[in-house]
Amino acid sequence: MTQKAIPLPQLTGFSERNGCWYAEEVSLVDLAKEFGTPLYVYSKKALTQAYQAYDKACIGPGGKRRARVHYAMKANSNLAVIDCLKKLGAGFDLVSGGELSRALAIGADPKSLVFAGVGKSATEIAQALQVGVKCINVESIAELHQINRVATKLNCRAPISLRVNPDVDAQTHPYISTGLKGNKFGIAYHEVLKTYREAALLPQIDVVGIDCHIGSQITSTAPYLDALDKVLELVAQLKKEGIEIHHLDLGGGLGISYGDDSPPDITEFTNTLLDRVAERGFGHLDVVLEPGRSLVGNAGVLLTQVEYLKPGAEKNFCIVDAAMTELMRPALYEAYHAIVPVQTKAIPKTTYDIVGPVCESGDWLGRDRQMAVEEGDLLAIMSAGAYGFVMASNYNTRPKPAEIMVDGNKAFVIRAREKIQDLFSSETILPE
Ligand code: LLP
Repeated sequence: MTQKAIPLPQLTGFSERNGCWYAEEVSLVDLAKEFGTPLYVYSKKALTQAYQAYDKACIGPGGKRRARVHYAMKANSNLAVIDCLKKLGAGFDLVSGGELSRALAIGADPKSLVFAGVGKSATEIAQALQVGVKCINVESIAELHQINRVATKLNCRAPISLRVNPDVDAQTHPYISTGLKGNKFGIAYHEVLKTYREAALLPQIDVVGIDCHIGSQITSTAPYLDALDKVLELVAQLKKEGIEIHHLDLGGGLGISYGDDSPPDITEFTNTLLDRVAERGFGHLDVVLEPGRSLVGNAGVLLTQVEYLKPGAEKNFCIVDAAMTELMRPALYEAYHAIVPVQTKAIPKTTYDIVGPVCESGDWLGRDRQMAVEEGDLLAIMSAGAYGFVMASNYNTRPKPAEIMVDGNKAFVIRAREKIQDLFSSETILPE
C-alpha cells in the first residue's frame, strides 16, 4: 500500500523550519524533552486568530454586532483554553453540569452561557437556573416539562429555546450527524410549533430563542442554509401566532481541514448565514454561533515518541507511546489526522501503520503512512486540538497526558500529566 497523497492542513500556530517542527517559537523537540510524551501542545496564536476571524465576521456593516460566538467547550474544555477565549469575548455552549462548573471556574458571565444536551438531569437544570444562564436549549417535550417543574421548585423563570431537528443531511460521518430525523437530537420539525405553543402556556417558562445544530465537521455551507431556511419559516410562523423569540442559535459544526478537506472560510461562512438571516427580515434577532472544532482543531497537536518499529507479515507497524486513549478519533470514526516526524531525517521512507500500545486492534492513529523514522523519534499528530484530550480515557490504566499552551516563545503547563497512583487512589478493596 502506498501513502495517500494528502497534503498537510494549513496551520497558523505550527510550522516546519529547517526540517524541525515548532509551535509558534518553541521547538517541539524541546517541549518533548522538558515535559515528556505523549503531550498535547496548543498554540495561543492559532486559537486567537480563529476566534478573531469569527468575531470580525459577526460585526455587520456600520459596525453593528450581528452575532456572538459561544464556544462549544466540549471540543476542548481546558481552563486555559476557555479562559483565553473568554478574554477574547467568547460566551460558551455547555452540555453538562461539569462544563457549567468549568465556565464558572473561569468567571464566565452566566448570561454568556447556553446549555444544550439531550438528557440534562434535574440537578443540572437546577444548577443552570440557579446561576442564571442565558438559555436552556430544550430537546424534548418531556425535558420542557422537567424544566418547568424544576423552575417551579426554585421559584424562578426558565429562559428556553427549542432545538429544532430540521431533517437536513449534513453529509458528515454518521456518528457526528445530528440533524436527521433518525438522530436522537432536537424536536422533530413537525412538532416544533406545537411544542412552542405548549411552552408558551407553561407558568415558569420564558420562550427566548430557537436553535438548531445539524452535525459536526461539515465542509459545505449548503446544509446550513437549508436548515436555516427551515428554522426561519418556523420563526415567521411563531411571530404570526404572537410568540416572539429574541435569539436564533445556529449551532456549531463548521469543519476544518485535516488534510484534503476544504471547508468554507470562517468569515465567508459566517457572513453567508448572517446575510441570509437579514435578507429574510430577521436581522433584528440576536444570533448565537456555537463553533467548537473550527476554533481549536488546528490549534493543537499531539506529540508522541516512537517506541518500536515492527515489520509484520502484511504491514509494518510504527508503535508509538500515544494511543486511542489519548486520541480516540481514528479508532472511533476512522478519522484521518496528518502525522509528521518532528525532525526530518535523511533515511529511506517505509510505509507504516502508526499504532499505540493499547490492547485493541482498533488502536491505530494513522494507516499506510510513508515515513522516515527510527525508534526514539518524535511524531506530531496534527489537528488534534479539538475532541482530542477531552475524549481521552484511562483505559489500560494509562495516565492522561499533560497539556501545554505555547504563547510566542513561552510554554505553559496547562494540565499536569496524570500520576499512575492517582488513577486508582479512590478505589478500595473489600475487607477480609
Ligand atoms: N453545538 C452543539 C449542540 C453540538 O452538539 C456540537 C457538537 C457543537 C455545537 C460543536 O460542534 P463543532 O463546531 O465542534 O463541530 N467527537 C466528534 C465531534 C462531536 C460533535 C458533537 N457536537 C469528533 O471528534 O469529530
